[in-house]
Amino acid sequence: MNITETNDTTIINNLTVSYSDEGPVEAPVVIFIHGFPLNKSMWDLQLEELKDEYRVIAYDIRGHGDSDAGYEDFSMDLFGNDLISFMDTLKITKAVVCGLSMGGYIALNAIGNYPERFEALILSDTQYIADTPDVRENRLTAIENIKKNGLDDYAHESLKNLFAPLSLLSKETEIASVREMIVNTSKQSIYNSLHALAIRKETSGILPGIKIPVLILVGNEDKITPPEMAELMHKKINGSELHIIEDAGHLSNMENPFEFNYQIRKFISSVY
Ligand code: MLT
Repeated sequence: MNITETNDTTIINNLTVSYSDEGPVEAPVVIFIHGFPLNKSMWDLQLEELKDEYRVIAYDIRGHGDSDAGYEDFSMDLFGNDLISFMDTLKITKAVVCGLSMGGYIALNAIGNYPERFEALILSDTQYIADTPDVRENRLTAIENIKKNGLDDYAHESLKNLFAPLSLLSKETEIASVREMIVNTSKQSIYNSLHALAIRKETSGILPGIKIPVLILVGNEDKITPPEMAELMHKKINGSELHIIEDAGHLSNMENPFEFNYQIRKFISSVY
């Protein structure tokens, strides 16, 4: 069996994209899309879990991790098109795609435009609604606060919302690694992504048309995209499965990897 274990870069749309690519080359492909303002390393435990059986790929969205930002304004359309160009470059015609939060917004954008590229979809701690005026306002305030107080302060505030209260007391390593991801993202990319998040459109219209297997996961204590949002998505996607991940906030894959990995392996093995 030909096994790949790469931390590599590729060029898509004149942009260097950094990605990890592990598991048997010929195996079914699972692609992971991270949340904001994080990077592909948030999926390390999922790649580790699945690489015995699947070709597992996690990439850095433009402007995050080690990928270039490029010169275009960020938007979910741009990020969604990047995903498809990335698949084209790697010659992947179809994959199971798993997106967490902003990664989920990107997956939903891409499936609306390119449904034929998806074998199945995992939507984790995400939602289909656009920003409410309050949330949009908060994003603008966040930009002003970063300009005034810097990224350390922004990371400190963000961590309180990303993790469940119990995780904040017990998940020191995960918190340190998420903090690193945030402070190592360029300020300009954070501003651009906040803007892209604020202007994104709601994707409810495409949900009833999704005809592939869909698994929806959400941390029971997710404050950013709460379980009620997952329930609404579940109702709109025919035949979708929903599982609430216990003892987890918004980063359910990092806060309860045992349960998260169990659910995704069970789901993916039912697809392939
Ligand atoms: C994320 O985790 O990607 C963001 O929290 C998404 C959002 O703020 O809507």
